[in-house]
Amino acid sequence: MSTLAIATAREVFDLLRDDLTAIERELGRDAVSSVDTITEIAEYLRGGGGKRIRPSLLLLAARCLGYDGSGMIRLGAVVELVHTATLVHDDIIDGADTRRGRPSANTTWGNEKCVLAGDWLYMQAFHIALEERNFKVLDLLISLTQQMVEGELLQIQKLGRPVSEAEYYDLIFRKTACLFSVSMQLGATLAGASAEQEEALACYGRGVGLAFQIVDDVLDLTATEEVLGKPVASDLREGKTTLPVIHSLEHGTAAEREVIRHVLEDGGFVRSSREQVQEILHRNGSVEYAMAAADRYAEQGREALVPIEDSEFKRALLWVPDFVVARDK
Ligand code: IPE
Ligand code: IPE
Ligand code: MG
Ligand code: MG
Repeated sequence: MSTLAIATAREVFDLLRDDLTAIERELGRDAVSSVDTITEIAEYLRGGGGKRIRPSLLLLAARCLGYDGSGMIRLGAVVELVHTATLVHDDIIDGADTRRGRPSANTTWGNEKCVLAGDWLYMQAFHIALEERNFKVLDLLISLTQQMVEGELLQIQKLGRPVSEAEYYDLIFRKTACLFSVSMQLGATLAGASAEQEEALACYGRGVGLAFQIVDDVLDLTATEEVLGKPVASDLREGKTTLPVIHSLEHGTAAEREVIRHVLEDGGFVRSSREQVQEILHRNGSVEYAMAAADRYAEQGREALVPIEDSEFKRALLWVPDFVVARDK
Protein backbone atom coordinates (compact mmCIF):
# COMPACT_ATOMS: atom_id res chain seq x y z
CA MET A 1 0.00 0.00 0.00
CA SER A 2 1.06 3.55 -0.64
CA THR A 3 2.01 5.63 2.36
CA LEU A 4 0.32 8.64 0.76
CA ALA A 5 -2.75 9.95 2.57
CA ILE A 6 -6.07 9.50 0.80
CA ALA A 7 -7.15 12.50 -1.29
CA THR A 8 -10.48 14.28 -0.92
CA ALA A 9 -13.25 14.63 -3.50
CA ARG A 10 -12.41 18.30 -4.04
CA GLU A 11 -8.70 17.60 -4.58
CA VAL A 12 -9.52 14.92 -7.14
CA PHE A 13 -11.98 17.16 -8.94
CA ASP A 14 -9.49 20.08 -8.99
CA LEU A 15 -6.85 17.74 -10.38
CA LEU A 16 -9.09 16.68 -13.28
CA ARG A 17 -11.12 19.86 -13.80
CA ASP A 18 -9.47 21.05 -17.03
CA ASP A 19 -9.34 17.57 -18.57
CA LEU A 20 -12.99 16.88 -17.70
CA THR A 21 -14.01 20.25 -19.16
CA ALA A 22 -12.20 19.33 -22.37
CA ILE A 23 -14.00 15.96 -22.43
CA GLU A 24 -17.37 17.74 -22.03
CA ARG A 25 -16.49 19.92 -25.03
CA GLU A 26 -15.55 16.82 -27.04
CA LEU A 27 -18.83 15.13 -26.02
CA GLY A 28 -20.71 18.23 -27.21
CA ARG A 29 -19.09 17.93 -30.66
CA ASP A 30 -19.74 14.18 -30.73
CA ALA A 31 -23.50 14.45 -30.11
CA VAL A 32 -24.22 15.87 -33.57
CA SER A 33 -25.72 13.86 -36.46
CA SER A 34 -27.17 14.96 -39.80
CA VAL A 35 -30.40 13.32 -38.64
CA ASP A 36 -32.16 15.60 -36.13
CA THR A 37 -33.72 12.86 -33.99
CA ILE A 38 -30.30 11.38 -33.26
CA THR A 39 -28.88 14.78 -32.31
CA GLU A 40 -31.91 15.42 -30.06
CA ILE A 41 -31.53 12.08 -28.25
CA ALA A 42 -27.74 12.37 -27.99
CA GLU A 43 -28.02 15.94 -26.65
CA TYR A 44 -30.71 14.90 -24.17
CA LEU A 45 -28.50 12.11 -22.86
CA ARG A 46 -25.46 14.36 -22.62
CA GLY A 47 -27.48 17.02 -20.78
CA GLY A 48 -28.52 14.47 -18.14
CA GLY A 49 -24.99 14.60 -16.73
CA GLY A 50 -23.82 11.58 -14.78
CA LYS A 51 -20.82 10.98 -12.58
CA ARG A 52 -18.29 10.68 -15.45
CA ILE A 53 -16.44 8.07 -13.44
CA ARG A 54 -15.13 6.10 -16.44
CA PRO A 55 -13.45 9.05 -18.20
CA SER A 56 -12.05 10.15 -14.83
CA LEU A 57 -10.42 6.74 -14.38
CA LEU A 58 -8.98 6.84 -17.90
CA LEU A 59 -7.49 10.29 -17.23
CA LEU A 60 -5.98 9.17 -13.92
CA ALA A 61 -4.51 6.02 -15.50
CA ALA A 62 -2.86 8.02 -18.29
CA ARG A 63 -1.67 10.83 -16.03
CA CYS A 64 -0.28 8.61 -13.28
CA LEU A 65 2.10 7.24 -15.93
CA GLY A 66 3.12 10.73 -17.00
CA TYR A 67 0.99 11.08 -20.16
CA ASP A 68 -0.14 14.59 -21.10
CA GLY A 69 -1.49 14.36 -24.67
CA SER A 70 -4.87 14.98 -26.29
CA GLY A 71 -5.57 11.25 -26.80
CA MET A 72 -6.92 10.98 -23.27
CA ILE A 73 -9.55 13.63 -24.00
CA ARG A 74 -10.75 11.73 -27.08
CA LEU A 75 -10.65 8.32 -25.41
CA GLY A 76 -12.27 9.76 -22.27
CA ALA A 77 -15.17 10.82 -24.48
CA VAL A 78 -15.12 7.38 -26.13
CA VAL A 79 -15.62 5.45 -22.87
CA GLU A 80 -18.40 7.85 -21.81
CA LEU A 81 -20.11 7.38 -25.20
CA VAL A 82 -19.88 3.59 -24.92
CA HIS A 83 -21.31 3.85 -21.39
CA THR A 84 -24.15 6.10 -22.63
CA ALA A 85 -24.98 3.70 -25.48
CA THR A 86 -25.21 0.80 -23.01
CA LEU A 87 -27.47 2.85 -20.72
CA VAL A 88 -29.87 3.60 -23.59
CA HIS A 89 -30.07 -0.07 -24.53
CA ASP A 90 -30.19 -1.16 -20.86
CA ASP A 91 -33.17 1.09 -20.10
CA ILE A 92 -35.05 -0.37 -23.07
CA ILE A 93 -34.25 -3.93 -21.94
CA ASP A 94 -35.14 -3.16 -18.29
CA GLY A 95 -38.22 -1.12 -19.25
CA ALA A 96 -36.88 1.68 -17.01
CA ASP A 97 -38.70 5.01 -17.09
CA THR A 98 -36.19 7.27 -15.31
CA ARG A 99 -32.45 7.87 -15.66
CA ARG A 100 -30.28 10.55 -14.10
CA GLY A 101 -33.34 12.06 -12.43
CA ARG A 102 -35.23 12.61 -15.69
CA PRO A 103 -37.54 10.55 -17.90
CA SER A 104 -35.38 7.94 -19.66
CA ALA A 105 -34.87 8.46 -23.41
CA ASN A 106 -37.04 5.44 -24.27
CA THR A 107 -39.96 7.06 -22.40
CA THR A 108 -39.70 10.18 -24.56
CA TRP A 109 -38.70 8.79 -27.98
CA GLY A 110 -39.85 5.16 -27.77
CA ASN A 111 -37.84 1.95 -28.03
CA GLU A 112 -37.35 1.84 -31.81
CA LYS A 113 -35.66 5.21 -32.10
CA CYS A 114 -33.62 4.63 -28.95
CA VAL A 115 -32.23 1.27 -30.14
CA LEU A 116 -30.98 3.07 -33.24
CA ALA A 117 -29.65 6.04 -31.26
CA GLY A 118 -27.74 3.60 -29.04
CA ASP A 119 -26.21 1.93 -32.13
CA TRP A 120 -25.28 5.33 -33.50
CA LEU A 121 -23.56 6.28 -30.21
CA TYR A 122 -21.55 3.04 -30.24
CA MET A 123 -20.33 3.77 -33.75
CA GLN A 124 -19.64 7.40 -32.91
CA ALA A 125 -17.41 6.12 -30.10
CA PHE A 126 -15.51 3.88 -32.55
CA HIS A 127 -15.26 6.69 -35.05
CA ILE A 128 -13.45 8.86 -32.50
CA ALA A 129 -11.33 5.96 -31.25
CA LEU A 130 -10.16 5.41 -34.83
CA GLU A 131 -8.46 8.81 -34.72
CA GLU A 132 -5.80 7.27 -32.45
CA ARG A 133 -4.71 5.05 -35.38
CA ASN A 134 -3.95 2.39 -32.79
CA PHE A 135 -5.09 -1.23 -33.29
CA LYS A 136 -4.64 -2.04 -29.60
CA VAL A 137 -7.21 0.66 -28.74
CA LEU A 138 -9.69 -0.83 -31.21
CA ASP A 139 -8.99 -4.35 -30.01
CA LEU A 140 -9.73 -3.35 -26.40
CA LEU A 141 -12.95 -1.58 -27.38
CA ILE A 142 -14.24 -4.40 -29.59
CA SER A 143 -13.65 -7.10 -26.94
CA LEU A 144 -15.21 -4.79 -24.36
CA THR A 145 -18.38 -4.23 -26.38
CA GLN A 146 -18.77 -7.96 -26.95
CA GLN A 147 -18.30 -8.66 -23.22
CA MET A 148 -20.93 -6.06 -22.32
CA VAL A 149 -23.46 -7.41 -24.80
CA GLU A 150 -22.75 -10.97 -23.61
CA GLY A 151 -23.24 -9.79 -20.00
CA GLU A 152 -26.65 -8.27 -20.72
CA LEU A 153 -27.66 -11.36 -22.70
CA LEU A 154 -26.59 -13.78 -19.97
CA GLN A 155 -28.59 -11.64 -17.55
CA ILE A 156 -31.71 -12.04 -19.67
CA GLN A 157 -31.18 -15.81 -19.79
CA LYS A 158 -31.00 -15.97 -15.99
CA LEU A 159 -34.03 -13.78 -15.29
CA GLY A 160 -36.56 -15.14 -12.81
CA ARG A 161 -34.34 -17.80 -11.30
CA PRO A 162 -31.77 -17.80 -8.51
CA VAL A 163 -28.14 -17.59 -9.66
CA SER A 164 -24.96 -18.65 -7.86
CA GLU A 165 -22.38 -16.13 -6.64
CA ALA A 166 -20.00 -17.35 -9.35
CA GLU A 167 -22.62 -16.63 -12.05
CA TYR A 168 -23.32 -13.23 -10.47
CA TYR A 169 -19.64 -12.22 -10.51
CA ASP A 170 -19.16 -13.40 -14.10
CA LEU A 171 -22.16 -11.32 -15.10
CA ILE A 172 -21.20 -8.10 -13.32
CA PHE A 173 -17.63 -8.36 -14.59
CA ARG A 174 -18.89 -8.43 -18.16
CA LYS A 175 -21.62 -5.82 -17.89
CA THR A 176 -19.82 -3.30 -15.67
CA ALA A 177 -16.30 -4.05 -14.39
CA CYS A 178 -14.91 -4.77 -17.86
CA LEU A 179 -15.52 -1.15 -18.91
CA PHE A 180 -13.77 0.11 -15.76
CA SER A 181 -10.84 -2.17 -16.49
CA VAL A 182 -10.65 -1.20 -20.17
CA SER A 183 -10.85 2.51 -19.28
CA MET A 184 -7.70 1.99 -17.18
CA GLN A 185 -6.02 -0.03 -19.95
CA LEU A 186 -6.78 2.65 -22.54
CA GLY A 187 -5.14 5.28 -20.34
CA ALA A 188 -2.18 2.96 -19.82
CA THR A 189 -1.88 2.29 -23.55
CA LEU A 190 -1.76 6.00 -24.36
CA ALA A 191 1.03 6.43 -21.80
CA GLY A 192 3.08 3.56 -23.28
CA ALA A 193 2.78 1.53 -20.07
CA SER A 194 4.90 -1.56 -19.40
CA ALA A 195 3.04 -4.90 -19.30
CA GLU A 196 3.30 -4.86 -15.51
CA GLN A 197 1.86 -1.35 -15.22
CA GLU A 198 -1.00 -2.13 -17.61
CA GLU A 199 -1.84 -5.32 -15.70
CA ALA A 200 -1.81 -3.42 -12.39
CA LEU A 201 -4.16 -0.73 -13.72
CA ALA A 202 -6.48 -3.29 -15.39
CA CYS A 203 -6.66 -5.23 -12.12
CA TYR A 204 -7.47 -2.01 -10.26
CA GLY A 205 -10.30 -1.30 -12.74
CA ARG A 206 -11.69 -4.78 -12.27
CA GLY A 207 -11.76 -4.46 -8.46
CA VAL A 208 -13.28 -0.98 -8.50
CA GLY A 209 -15.80 -1.99 -11.20
CA LEU A 210 -16.98 -5.08 -9.30
CA ALA A 211 -17.34 -2.98 -6.12
CA PHE A 212 -19.23 -0.38 -8.18
CA GLN A 213 -21.85 -2.83 -9.49
CA ILE A 214 -22.30 -4.53 -6.09
CA VAL A 215 -23.03 -1.08 -4.61
CA ASP A 216 -25.37 -0.27 -7.54
CA ASP A 217 -27.26 -3.48 -6.74
CA VAL A 218 -27.39 -2.64 -3.01
CA LEU A 219 -28.65 0.89 -3.78
CA ASP A 220 -31.40 -0.62 -5.94
CA LEU A 221 -32.65 -2.30 -2.74
CA THR A 222 -31.98 0.45 -0.19
CA ALA A 223 -32.09 3.89 -1.88
CA THR A 224 -34.99 6.16 -2.82
CA GLU A 225 -35.74 7.01 -6.45
CA GLU A 226 -35.44 10.71 -5.53
CA VAL A 227 -31.79 10.37 -4.56
CA LEU A 228 -30.83 7.66 -7.05
CA GLY A 229 -32.42 9.31 -10.09
CA LYS A 230 -33.50 5.93 -11.50
CA PRO A 231 -36.11 3.32 -10.51
CA VAL A 232 -35.55 1.44 -7.22
CA ALA A 233 -36.39 -2.17 -6.30
CA SER A 234 -36.34 -2.73 -10.04
CA ASP A 235 -33.86 -5.65 -10.07
CA LEU A 236 -36.21 -7.93 -8.12
CA ARG A 237 -39.22 -6.85 -10.16
CA GLU A 238 -37.26 -7.66 -13.30
CA GLY A 239 -36.33 -11.07 -11.87
CA LYS A 240 -32.63 -10.23 -11.32
CA THR A 241 -30.98 -11.99 -8.38
CA THR A 242 -28.28 -9.68 -7.01
CA LEU A 243 -25.72 -10.36 -4.27
CA PRO A 244 -27.81 -9.42 -1.18
CA VAL A 245 -30.69 -11.52 -2.50
CA ILE A 246 -28.40 -14.47 -3.28
CA HIS A 247 -27.18 -14.29 0.32
CA SER A 248 -30.70 -14.37 1.77
CA LEU A 249 -31.67 -17.22 -0.55
CA GLU A 250 -28.70 -19.20 0.76
CA HIS A 251 -29.06 -18.35 4.45
CA GLY A 252 -32.74 -17.61 5.00
CA THR A 253 -35.42 -19.96 6.27
CA ALA A 254 -37.55 -21.99 3.85
CA ALA A 255 -40.38 -19.49 4.32
CA GLU A 256 -38.07 -16.54 3.58
CA ARG A 257 -36.74 -18.20 0.44
CA GLU A 258 -40.32 -18.75 -0.68
CA VAL A 259 -41.15 -15.03 -0.32
CA ILE A 260 -38.16 -14.07 -2.50
CA ARG A 261 -38.87 -16.78 -5.06
CA HIS A 262 -42.41 -15.46 -5.46
CA VAL A 263 -41.16 -11.98 -6.41
CA LEU A 264 -38.69 -13.42 -8.91
CA GLU A 265 -41.30 -15.70 -10.46
CA ASP A 266 -44.08 -13.09 -10.53
CA GLY A 267 -41.81 -10.41 -11.96
CA GLY A 268 -43.13 -8.00 -9.32
CA PHE A 269 -44.46 -7.59 -5.81
CA VAL A 270 -47.63 -9.62 -6.29
CA ARG A 271 -47.60 -12.36 -3.66
CA SER A 272 -44.80 -10.73 -1.60
CA SER A 273 -44.21 -7.05 -0.79
CA ARG A 274 -41.02 -4.99 -1.08
CA GLU A 275 -41.12 -4.44 2.71
CA GLN A 276 -41.23 -8.19 3.33
CA VAL A 277 -38.13 -8.65 1.19
CA GLN A 278 -36.34 -5.78 2.94
CA GLU A 279 -37.10 -7.38 6.33
CA ILE A 280 -35.69 -10.69 5.14
CA LEU A 281 -32.51 -9.03 3.89
CA HIS A 282 -32.26 -7.19 7.21
CA ARG A 283 -32.75 -10.34 9.31
CA ASN A 284 -30.05 -12.17 7.39
CA GLY A 285 -27.54 -9.29 7.33
CA SER A 286 -27.51 -9.61 3.54
CA VAL A 287 -26.90 -5.93 2.72
CA GLU A 288 -23.95 -5.92 5.14
CA TYR A 289 -22.68 -9.08 3.50
CA ALA A 290 -22.79 -7.49 0.03
CA MET A 291 -21.17 -4.27 1.28
CA ALA A 292 -18.37 -6.32 2.86
CA ALA A 293 -17.80 -7.93 -0.55
CA ALA A 294 -17.73 -4.47 -2.18
CA ASP A 295 -15.18 -3.35 0.44
CA ARG A 296 -13.01 -6.35 -0.36
CA TYR A 297 -12.99 -5.61 -4.11
CA ALA A 298 -12.32 -1.93 -3.41
CA GLU A 299 -9.32 -2.97 -1.33
CA GLN A 300 -8.16 -5.36 -4.09
CA GLY A 301 -8.25 -2.37 -6.42
CA ARG A 302 -6.12 -0.26 -4.08
CA GLU A 303 -3.64 -3.09 -3.55
CA ALA A 304 -3.21 -3.56 -7.30
CA LEU A 305 -1.63 -0.10 -7.47
CA VAL A 306 1.52 -1.14 -5.59
CA PRO A 307 3.71 -1.22 -8.76
CA ILE A 308 2.60 2.30 -9.73
CA GLU A 309 4.89 5.14 -8.73
CA ASP A 310 3.52 7.61 -6.15
CA SER A 311 2.02 10.84 -7.49
CA GLU A 312 -1.01 13.04 -6.90
CA PHE A 313 -2.79 11.03 -9.62
CA LYS A 314 -2.09 7.76 -7.85
CA ARG A 315 -3.37 9.40 -4.66
CA ALA A 316 -6.60 10.19 -6.50
CA LEU A 317 -6.85 6.59 -7.74
CA LEU A 318 -6.47 5.40 -4.15
CA TRP A 319 -9.43 7.59 -3.19
CA VAL A 320 -11.84 6.37 -5.90
CA PRO A 321 -12.66 2.99 -4.26
CA ASP A 322 -13.76 4.84 -1.09
CA PHE A 323 -15.99 7.07 -3.17
CA VAL A 324 -17.46 4.07 -4.97
CA VAL A 325 -18.45 2.21 -1.80
CA ALA A 326 -19.64 5.29 0.13
CA ARG A 327 -21.72 6.87 -2.67
CA ASP A 328 -25.50 7.22 -2.38
CA LYS A 329 -26.26 7.51 -6.12
C1 IPE B 1 -24.89 3.15 -14.22
O1 IPE B 1 -23.62 3.70 -14.20
C2 IPE B 1 -24.82 1.79 -14.85
C3 IPE B 1 -24.09 0.82 -14.05
C4 IPE B 1 -23.05 0.20 -14.48
C5 IPE B 1 -24.57 0.48 -12.73
P1 IPE B 1 -23.32 5.08 -13.44
O2 IPE B 1 -23.85 5.00 -12.05
O3 IPE B 1 -21.88 5.41 -13.60
O4 IPE B 1 -24.21 6.10 -14.26
P2 IPE B 1 -24.04 7.67 -14.45
O5 IPE B 1 -23.22 7.85 -15.68
O6 IPE B 1 -23.38 8.26 -13.23
O7 IPE B 1 -25.45 8.15 -14.64
C1 IPE C 1 -26.16 -1.80 -15.71
O1 IPE C 1 -26.83 -2.69 -14.89
C2 IPE C 1 -25.20 -2.42 -16.59
C3 IPE C 1 -24.95 -1.71 -17.86
C4 IPE C 1 -23.98 -2.10 -18.57
C5 IPE C 1 -25.80 -0.62 -18.32
P1 IPE C 1 -28.14 -2.14 -14.23
O2 IPE C 1 -29.36 -2.46 -15.04
O3 IPE C 1 -28.15 -2.48 -12.77
O4 IPE C 1 -27.88 -0.56 -14.34
P2 IPE C 1 -28.89 0.55 -13.88
O5 IPE C 1 -29.19 0.25 -12.44
O6 IPE C 1 -30.08 0.44 -14.78
O7 IPE C 1 -28.12 1.83 -14.04
MG1 MG D 1 -30.91 -1.14 -15.74
MG1 MG E 1 -28.88 -1.21 -11.24
